[in-house]
Amino acid sequence: MSCLSVVLPETHVAFNLASSKVSTEVATLVLLALLAALRWSSTLLAAPEPAVDFSRDIRPILSDRCFTCHGPDEQARKAKLRLDVRAEAIKKAIVPGDAAKSRLFQRITSQDQDEVMPPPESKKQPLTPEQIALFKRWINEDQAAYTEHWSFQRLVRPPLPPVRAKAWVQNPIDPYILARLEREGLAPSLEADKATLLRRVSYDLTGLPPTPA
Ligand code: HEC
Repeated sequence: MSCLSVVLPETHVAFNLASSKVSTEVATLVLLALLAALRWSSTLLAAPEPAVDFSRDIRPILSDRCFTCHGPDEQARKAKLRLDVRAEAIKKAIVPGDAAKSRLFQRITSQDQDEVMPPPESKKQPLTPEQIALFKRWINEDQAAYTEHWSFQRLVRPPLPPVRAKAWVQNPIDPYILARLEREGLAPSLEADKATLLRRVSYDLTGLPPTPA
């Protein structure tokens, strides 16, 4: 007799149901409900996504998938379109603030094999839904701003990322860690007590557990 067995590691819940039709249906329903609850709680807890950054998020994709045909090399350039210079890109392919009207966005989201970019015959990977979402936000929320590579930018003190559990923050580095944890729907570990710290130090330095004084 076969059995349906489902284990959800995060929730430490296990079902073990015989495979009669009814119990299978019940198990499926319970599982769906649990998954829905998990998704729901993680969207509720998740902090807002950080802003799109051209140099970090967009340029690497353009460079990998588009510049061979729409980059600095005039000989190789197709459709007289260059995407490495903003002034050129917004002349032909990008409407800042309006992804839907931007040729670039229409082309990367097209279902038509003759339209979609990069062209399938180029053997370049099509953009993933996550990458397409980045382009959408970059054009709509960031007005398709081209920023210089970070190594050419003046140093500025960035605003600290917003966090929910403000009481946890003790120094200016903590908000970065906490913001990411909150984005992933995770809570920080509890602070280690003195005995635990001593044990770690002892293992680190001597490889042995601490001895009573
Ligand atoms: C292998 C070469 C190649 C690559 C790589 C490529 N393209 Fe193209 N692209 C073309 C060619 C050829 C055309 C002109 C024919 C056409 O419109 O389909 C074109 C046309 C376009 C157009 C329309 C230009 C206009 O004037 O209407 C846009 C927008 C565009 N590409 C965006 C992109 C983007 C964004 C990428 C990267 C995700 C990309 N392309 C990658 C070859 C390429």
